[in-house]
Amino acid sequence: MCGIVGYVGRRPCRDILFDGLRKLEYRGYDSAGISVVQDGRFSLLHSVGNLDNLEGILDQIENGGTTGIAHTRWATHGRPSSENAHPHTDCSGRFAIVLNGIVENYVPLRAELQAEGHEFTSQTDAEVVAHLIERAYQGSLHEAVVEAYRQMEGHFTYCVIAVDEPDVIVGIRKETPLVVGLGDGENYLASAIPAFLSQTRSVIFPEDAEVVVITSEGAELFDLDGLPVRRDTQTVDWDDEAAEKAGYETFMLKEIHEQPTSLAETLAGRIAHDGSVVLEDLGLTPELIREIEQVVIVACGTSYHAGLLGKYALERWARLPVEVEVASEFRYREPVIGDDCLCIAISQSGETADTLAAMRLARQAGAGVLAVTNIVGSQATREADGVLFTRAGLEIGVAATKTFLTQELAMLLLALYLAEARGHLSPTEVRAFTDQLRTIPGLLRDYLEAGAAATVNEVASVYAPSRFFLCLGRNLGLPVALEGALKLKEISYIPTDAYAAGEMKHGPIALLEEGSPVLVVATDSFIYDKLMSNVQEVKARGARVIAVASQGNKGIEEIADDVLYVPKVHEMLSPLLSVVPLQLFAYYVAKNRGEKVDQPRNLAKTVTVE
Ligand code: F6R
Repeated sequence: MCGIVGYVGRRPCRDILFDGLRKLEYRGYDSAGISVVQDGRFSLLHSVGNLDNLEGILDQIENGGTTGIAHTRWATHGRPSSENAHPHTDCSGRFAIVLNGIVENYVPLRAELQAEGHEFTSQTDAEVVAHLIERAYQGSLHEAVVEAYRQMEGHFTYCVIAVDEPDVIVGIRKETPLVVGLGDGENYLASAIPAFLSQTRSVIFPEDAEVVVITSEGAELFDLDGLPVRRDTQTVDWDDEAAEKAGYETFMLKEIHEQPTSLAETLAGRIAHDGSVVLEDLGLTPELIREIEQVVIVACGTSYHAGLLGKYALERWARLPVEVEVASEFRYREPVIGDDCLCIAISQSGETADTLAAMRLARQAGAGVLAVTNIVGSQATREADGVLFTRAGLEIGVAATKTFLTQELAMLLLALYLAEARGHLSPTEVRAFTDQLRTIPGLLRDYLEAGAAATVNEVASVYAPSRFFLCLGRNLGLPVALEGALKLKEISYIPTDAYAAGEMKHGPIALLEEGSPVLVVATDSFIYDKLMSNVQEVKARGARVIAVASQGNKGIEEIADDVLYVPKVHEMLSPLLSVVPLQLFAYYVAKNRGEKVDQPRNLAKTVTVE
C-alpha cells in the first residue's frame, strides 16, 4: 500500500513532488524517496522514517528539474531502509521506477537478471522492474514498460522516468490504483487523487494493462499492442478529506471496501504454482514443525477472534492441539507449556502491551514465538522468532476490518502450511484449498461491487433503534458472531452479546422478548441443521432473526426475517466472507444513529498500556 506521485511540466518539481507525498501520508509509510531528471541524470534522495526526514535533506537536490517521481513505502519485501526505499534505478542509472503492490515472480526474475549480469542494490521485489526496463529498452520507454509488464506477475502499479526521455513519465497498473491528473502545461500520475488535488481536479482513471504516457502537453493511453485507448476526463469535487477517503464517507467504509485488495496482498507470492503454501520468515525449520506438540494463540480484541478462527483450522487441518487466550489473562497465568509449544501472537499493530507481555511469558517458558502482524518493524516483530505479515496496508478506522480479514487469511495459510509439513494434508488436499483461497479476493470484490453496502444498509436501518443485539454462531460461525458483536459494541454503543448458539438454552435465551433482534451466522456447514434448531428456539421466543447465509439457500427465508447472502465457498473459508455483512451491518446501524464511526468513544487504535 505504497504512495506514488509523478510530475511532468514546466515548473521545477522537487517541492511539488514532496507536497504530493505529504498528501499521501495518511496511507502510512516507513520510508520515502524522490527522483528528478536534471542535466542528463537523476537527482535521487531516499530517507527512512517519516517525511520530516526527507524534508530535512530535500535541499541536497536542486529544485531545477521539471520531471520526477516520488514514493512513500509500506514495506512488504525487504525491511524499511534507505537501499529499499524507492525510486529504484537500473545498473546504468538511466531509468528510475516507483512501484506500488507486489511483483509475485520477482524471485525467478531477479535470478534471471542476475545471471545476465544485472546488479541489485536492494532486497525489494520492485527493483526487478528497473532492470527489466533496462534490458528491454531500445529507444522507447513506452515499449520497454510494456515488455516489462508482460513478464511480471502479481498486482502492482509502476511509473518510470528515463534520462534519455526527460520529458516523459510512463505508468501502468494491474489491480492497484493509478490516476492521471491533468493540469495546464503539466500533468501528474499518482496512486491516489490527494497527491495532486491542490493542483488539478481533472482526472483520468486508466484501467488495468493500459499504458499511460504523460508529458507536459497531455496524457495518452494505449493498450498493450500500442493501440490508442480513449478514456473520459472526469472532474472531482472532493475536498482534501474526502479525497483521502477516496470518496467514501469514512475510513472504515473505505477499508471495508479495500478488503479484496488487502486479501490479494496477503496471498501474493504465498501460493506456489503447484498449489503449496510458501511462507518465508516463519523461523520454523521442518524439524521444528514436526516437534510442535501444542499451539497457544495469544491476542486481544479483534485479533483474538482471528486467533479463534485459526484454532479451527490448525486443529482440523494440522491436527494440533490449540488453546486461544486473551493476552491480558494469559500473561498472569502459569501456563503449562514448554519448548514443544508454538506460541502465535496475533496483533495488527504489533505494539499491544498485553500481547507483547504474553509473548515474553511464552518465550520464558521455552516456547517458540511467531508474530502475526501488519506492521513491519513493530515491537512484536523484534521479539518474535518468526513473523507472518498480514499486509493489509495502513488501517485508520479504529474499528479493525481489513486487518481482521487478513489475519484470518494468514492463519488459514499457516494452518495449511503446517498441515502439509506435518503430513496431515496431502499436497493435493492443500491444493484444493489454495485453489479456492485464490478466488476469495475476486468473490469479495464482486460481492461489494454488486452493492452489498446498500443492501445491508436497508436492513440495518430497520434495526438501528434497537436497544440490544444478540449474535449467534456455531463452529467457525462463532468467532464471526463474536467479531460482529464487537463491531456493534464499538461503533454503535448498543449492548450486544455473542454466544455459541447451542449455549442459548443454558441461560441467555432468557434475554429474549418479542422483537429482540438476533444476528445468526448461518452459512452452509456440516453443523447447519443443528444451528437451525437453535434458530427455531429463538424464533419461538419472538426474536427477529437476521441471518447471514450462503447464496442459494432459499430455505432460510422461511425462518429468518431478513437474510444477508454471501457467496458460497467451502465452510473453512466462509468466515472470510460472512464477517463482511456483519461489519457493514454494524457500520450502518452506527451511521443511522448518527455516530462517528472512525473515532469511537473511549477507544485507541493501538493499546500500548496495560
Ligand atoms: C477492534 C480492535 C481491537 C484490537 C485490539 C488488539 O476493532 O481493533 O479490539 O483488535 O486492541 O489490537 P492489535 O491487533 O493491534 O494487538
